[in-house]
Amino acid sequence: MKAMNQKKLLAGVFLLVVAMFVCYAYGAGSDAKAKPLRLKEFKVDRKVSAEARECIDCHAVESRGIVADWADSRHAHINVTCLDCHAAGAADADVSKAHFEHDKTPVSTIVSPKDCSRCHPSEAAEYNRSKHAQTLELIWKIDPWMNDGMNNATERVTGCQHCHGSIVKVKDGAYDPGTWPNVGVGRINPDGSKGSCSSCHTRHKFSVVEARKPEACGQCHLGPDHPQIEIYHESKHGAIYAAEGDEWKWDSAPGTWTAGVDYRTPTCSVCHMSEVNGVAASHDVTERLAWETQAPLTVRPSEFKPMPAKTDWKVERKKMETVCLACHSPAWTKGHFDHFDAAVENYNETYYKPMKKVVDELYEKKLLSKDKNLDEKLEYDMYELWHHEGRRARFGAAMMAPDYAWWHGFYELKKRCIEIEEQVEELLESGKPARVHQIKGATGDTTKPKFDKK
Ligand code: HEC
Ligand code: HEC
Ligand code: HEC
Ligand code: HEC
Ligand code: HEC
Ligand code: HEC
Ligand code: HEC
Ligand code: HEC
Repeated sequence: MKAMNQKKLLAGVFLLVVAMFVCYAYGAGSDAKAKPLRLKEFKVDRKVSAEARECIDCHAVESRGIVADWADSRHAHINVTCLDCHAAGAADADVSKAHFEHDKTPVSTIVSPKDCSRCHPSEAAEYNRSKHAQTLELIWKIDPWMNDGMNNATERVTGCQHCHGSIVKVKDGAYDPGTWPNVGVGRINPDGSKGSCSSCHTRHKFSVVEARKPEACGQCHLGPDHPQIEIYHESKHGAIYAAEGDEWKWDSAPGTWTAGVDYRTPTCSVCHMSEVNGVAASHDVTERLAWETQAPLTVRPSEFKPMPAKTDWKVERKKMETVCLACHSPAWTKGHFDHFDAAVENYNETYYKPMKKVVDELYEKKLLSKDKNLDEKLEYDMYELWHHEGRRARFGAAMMAPDYAWWHGFYELKKRCIEIEEQVEELLESGKPARVHQIKGATGDTTKPKFDKK
């Protein structure tokens, strides 16, 4: 019974796809709007309602890129239509007002993790407990740019929001442009749910293949302060991915994507998310971590005070090691983690703690002002010490990139310490407080939003 339905569906979808290709070939070189889909070739399965079909027909003309992506997706192949995702209750705050002019079915543009959770409850639940989903709350606990208003709305909208997300607001049936569009990992949606599944599964293909490739993560995990994609490209794993990845099998069903069979070296997804060697897949990227290597002082995730993880680092380290053991010996794996843990210790003890100590003394002596962070030169040096080279040293050691561990990491730390020490000595000698700068564009709203306790 199930198999029969599936066959029928496949036949239906096949025709649909053929119809679209015919239409495209036809439309090429001429005015696309003049060539609507030819409905006669559209064999409709009974599961696709007339209402759902209208969306596809009209959008095949209005926004053919969207329909083409959707038609190429798993969703289209199993008749999950526009309406399944975009239908809204007539009374929902975010029903599109503009859309009423084309179609009387209430639709809303945002399809939130809550909407996806109707059909993908476990991915949504795992995602919801990850640090990805909680990032806005965390930023408002610890970040100086936000809490001291050191940057302005434009800088936040074009920067932070695209990676971290925004609190999306709706006004008169349209999204407030100060808060949308973005698909940041911790976006708070009008329905209260957190994040955006299209951070990694771009619409409208929502492809597992895409998410398994490192580029899906590298859109946010790059740059001076979190260069994971650059680190990956430098690593042997990344070099082999670049040389041979085209030939690997990327679309195996989840749980069957196998190390050594489907791929030869791991991607971000393999180490952090996919099912490997008996370690269960998870959409909670906080799993498998034994350190908070992005923090000023490296601590265990459960000891990270602003947002303690509910994990036990020993359990998570075992999971990560089990991933490696799919392809490496226990001794090789242990050797790697010994080096990494030593790098963490070296960063904490040799660089971060001593510099923190001398700079804290300046605050006590009022030679540095506690009023705002990032309005004195020394504060920038201290920030970059942990946020730039200090992270690069730790991440480089964690993910097998010696250039990041040393040249972009420990080497730069040594140089930064000289710069900090020279300024500390000057301030102590002169006894005059450091110059406080009027930072350009420091007009950001510092009102802390309220976050649900959950
Ligand atoms: C008769 C044509 C037509 C039909 C039918 C139609 N749409 Fe649209 N839709 C449009 C046009 C044109 C836009 C772009 C601008 C706008 O919203 O006015 C649009 C925009 C959208 C948007 C973005 C909303 C926004 O405010 O920008 C979504 C989501 C959407 N459509 C989904 C759907 C769904 C789901 C259906 C089926 C229930 C559907 N559309 C049916 C023409 C149509
Ligand atoms: C699996 C769920 C899903 C399906 C099926 C789906 N969409 Fe979407 N759509 C999304 C998500 C997620 C977004 C991103 C909105 C956001 O997060 O801001 C989106 C965004 C959009 C937008 C606005 C974005 C833009 O680039 O302008 C339009 C228009 C739209 N969808 C139309 C459609 C149409 C037409 C169909 C059917 C051919 C469709 N969608 C099918 C989930 C879906
Ligand atoms: C009406 C139910 C439904 C909704 C709503 C829905 N999906 Fe799906 N989705 C499915 C089904 C069914 C499959 C196919 C599962 C399979 O092949 O085993 C699927 C498959 C997927 C896949 C795997 C694709 C691949 O390449 O193998 C991803 C990723 C996905 N969905 C993401 C999403 C996201 C993100 C949303 C919300 C924006 C969403 N889905 C909304 C039913 C749904
Ligand atoms: C290119 C994407 C991107 C932009 C732009 C960006 N961030 Fe981030 N941010 C990240 C990533 C990725 C991490 C995770 C770092 C890690 O764990 O390696 C992060 C981490 C953080 C953290 C540390 C969270 C923790 O767990 O302690 C804070 C705070 C933060 N960002 C604030 C901001 C603010 C404020 C802005 C804008 C002024 C901003 N970020 C801009 C991607 C970005
Ligand atoms: C941080 C990136 C990222 C985000 C955000 C993300 N995913 Fe995924 N997703 C992945 C990766 C990577 C895989 C492949 C994992 C694997 O190999 O098993 C995947 C696989 C999937 C699959 C296929 C797994 C299966 O068992 O069928 C579904 C469905 C899915 N995601 C849904 C979602 C939903 C729903 C959301 C939002 C709540 C979401 N994803 C958000 C990265 C992401
Ligand atoms: C849209 C931007 C974006 C994408 C895409 C993205 N991330 Fe992130 N990621 C972030 C941000 C922002 C943070 C910082 C969250 C925080 O700590 O506040 C983060 C944090 C993390 C962390 C640290 C979690 C913790 O508990 O400390 C890991 C691990 C991670 N991401 C892995 C991934 C992987 C793997 C992918 C791809 C499958 C991915 N990310 C895709 C933005 C992104
Ligand atoms: C070979 C496995 C492997 C690959 C591939 C890999 N990572 Fe990692 N990653 C690790 C290990 C190991 C750590 C350190 C874990 C710990 O805390 O003990 C780590 C740490 C991280 C962290 C820091 C988390 C924190 O808050 O301390 C982020 C973010 C991250 N990885 C993202 C990525 C991204 C994005 C990619 C792909 C561009 C990637 N990783 C590729 C193994 C890997
Ligand atoms: C899917 C298989 C696979 C997985 C999983 C895997 N690796 Fe690898 N790894 C390889 C291959 C293949 C090489 C290249 C071997 C060579 O250089 O001959 C490699 C190389 C390395 C290297 C050598 C780097 C250098 O500069 O020479 C280290 C270290 C390493 N892996 C550590 C790890 C750790 C730690 C994990 C788990 C977090 C891991 N690998 C997971 C396949 C894997």
